[in-house]
Amino acid sequence: MVVATVCNHKGGTGKTTSALGLAAALGLSGRRVLLVDLDPQAFLSRTLGTKDPDARHSSLALFDEETRLGALRAQPMSGFDLLPAHGRLTRRMRRLSKPTDVFWVKETLAQGRSEATSEYDVLLFDTAAAVTVYSLNALVASDHAVIPVTPEYQPVVGAEQTYQTTQTVQSRLNPGLAEPHFLLTQVDGRKRAHKRYRRYLREQYGECVLQSVIRTSSALARTPEDGTTVFDYAPQARGARDYANAADEWVARVEAARSEREPAPPEVTSSPGEARSAGDDAPAASYSAAARASLAGSPD
Ligand SMILES: Nc1ncnc2c1ncn2[C@@H]1O[C@H](COP(=O)(O)OP(=O)(O)OP(=O)(O)O)[C@@H](O)[C@H]1O
Ligand SMILES: [Mg+2]
Repeated sequence: MVVATVCNHKGGTGKTTSALGLAAALGLSGRRVLLVDLDPQAFLSRTLGTKDPDARHSSLALFDEETRLGALRAQPMSGFDLLPAHGRLTRRMRRLSKPTDVFWVKETLAQGRSEATSEYDVLLFDTAAAVTVYSLNALVASDHAVIPVTPEYQPVVGAEQTYQTTQTVQSRLNPGLAEPHFLLTQVDGRKRAHKRYRRYLREQYGECVLQSVIRTSSALARTPEDGTTVFDYAPQARGARDYANAADEWVARVEAARSEREPAPPEVTSSPGEARSAGDDAPAASYSAAARASLAGSPD
């Protein structure tokens, strides 16, 4: 199982949209994905139409000693499962003030690692736009971080601060955390500033910046609140195609990083479709292979 955090300390940079887009794209490519909403504002959960979830089956439960991962019932969405945020996350945060409180999620995952590993290939955390005990918990429990960044001044500053946070977490709390990947979001090719900041990020962070970019897409700004994603309601929109490409590239990078560290084949390296048990409804080929080929370049 690969665990990753989607984070940027600056707000509105496309974290939630990216967590959702990547989860849906990975799900379409046959991987079993658990998306965890660790943002107390719960926009991800709301976007997916989940209101007032049972606390025992929400991300709040990750901060409870009694929780066993295998007993958590995530909500099935379109191609992935969701562990929604709960309204009490904000209140709970006030009591998470000890230095050891950044290890809750890591420990809960470690306890249930074998159950979760057999159930999911990828676990993705959506986080709030701040360094909170929740975003730190996510990074401490993760192998990877994805930093969505719109190529503009404030999001780029936020992304650089977030990069520094990942370095601190890596050196002090989680040596297993790999170099983060920057994912350019809400990119508008006509804006000169966007070109400038894209160039700047590639010069400064080189290979850490994914080649795939997410362009502005009106389809991505929609919030149907019925559990569907852009892949359901606008599969031909560029927002769907961009997240399919980004997910493919990200998985390839994750696999490359893993095989550099350890030669043994990991679960996530299984080819799309193989991840599920035989006979179920896994797509025969990845979204990218099957669907992208048939997607004409219809702008949205
Ligand atoms: N590629 C895109 N094209 C058009 N609109 C987008 C795109 N990506 C995100 N948006 C819109 O931009 C807004 C901010 O996106 P999102 O909520 O994903 O950011 P965030 O980083 O999660 O924000 P927050 O810090 O508040 O959690 C949302 O209204 C979303 O629908
Ligand atoms: Mg968000």
